Amino acid sequence: MRFVVTGAAGFIGSHLTDALLAQDHDVVAIDCFTDYYDPALKEDNAAAFDVARLDLAADELALDGFDGVFHLAGQPGVRSFGAVFDDYVRRNLVATQRVFESAARSGVRVVFASSSSVYGDAERYPTPEDARASPVSPYGITKLGCEQLASAYAKSFRLEAVVLRYFTVYGPRQRPDMALARVVDALARGASFELYGDGLQSRSFTYVADVVAATIAGMERAPVGALYNVGGGVEATMRDAIATLERVSGRTLDVVEKPTAAGDVRRTAADTGRIERELGWRAQTALADGLQAQWEWASVRVAAP
Ligand code: UGA
Repeated sequence: MRFVVTGAAGFIGSHLTDALLAQDHDVVAIDCFTDYYDPALKEDNAAAFDVARLDLAADELALDGFDGVFHLAGQPGVRSFGAVFDDYVRRNLVATQRVFESAARSGVRVVFASSSSVYGDAERYPTPEDARASPVSPYGITKLGCEQLASAYAKSFRLEAVVLRYFTVYGPRQRPDMALARVVDALARGASFELYGDGLQSRSFTYVADVVAATIAGMERAPVGALYNVGGGVEATMRDAIATLERVSGRTLDVVEKPTAAGDVRRTAADTGRIERELGWRAQTALADGLQAQWEWASVRVAAP
């Protein structure tokens, strides 16, 4: 099959591209290497394949002849208030609208990477897909806007879209602004980690290989218009995750307590019943195993000259 992956040099996009290539698919990998974090890290992520540099908010994306687009490009990060909002609008809403236009015109299926942050402080836990979406961060608002664009393009232009709400993905290559990447880095370097809030906020942490499997299943087998939570099986607090990483690394983390970050939710917990029933997918990786893999990956990099 012939696929496009947008955001292919990012954390999840690069793992997805590696997996599609390993399955002998043809992949056109696209990224625009924004400087939200060091683009050299993205070059490393994408070391195994060529990447076309394309700014989806401005450049044309021609999709004729492809079997599907995995649209993972975007402006990530929940802590999104302030002047950065322009980036969220451009890289999420504007870029995604243009991908949907192009996909609808070419009759190509899109799997769109959305976020657990669309739920905000959810009305119930574990949270099923039909719970009210009520994001509390500008980031979550733009992701929900993208989901709604998918529905609008489906209704008026028969866009074939599948929406996946990823829950706090972790593992090797995790974005360096994310909590567990910072914990691992601090442990490897003997530096301190700034913990926002009391550490009892919890997440359905989801291992990246599991997310890749769900994403490919979404392309291959999901019914048109499907919407799924992609969440790890077990909810853990930040304090639990830190304790696990201390055990895995055999080191003690120097934690500096800071106020809760604006836009943060207290809790995420995915109800994954729908994707289990319809696609036969469930998270396979225990937090301790996934964190072991992330620790091994990061500690080797820190030790390298
Ligand atoms: C993550 C991703 O960053 C989003 O891009 C994604 O859309 C979202 O998951 C999702 O589930 O949809 P988040 O859950 O906030 O967002 O993940 P982290 O950045 O790893 O933060 C986890 C917790 O650690 C948060 O409470 C955060 O405030 C805290 N944190 C983060 C710290 O205590 N210290 C830090 O240096 C960074």
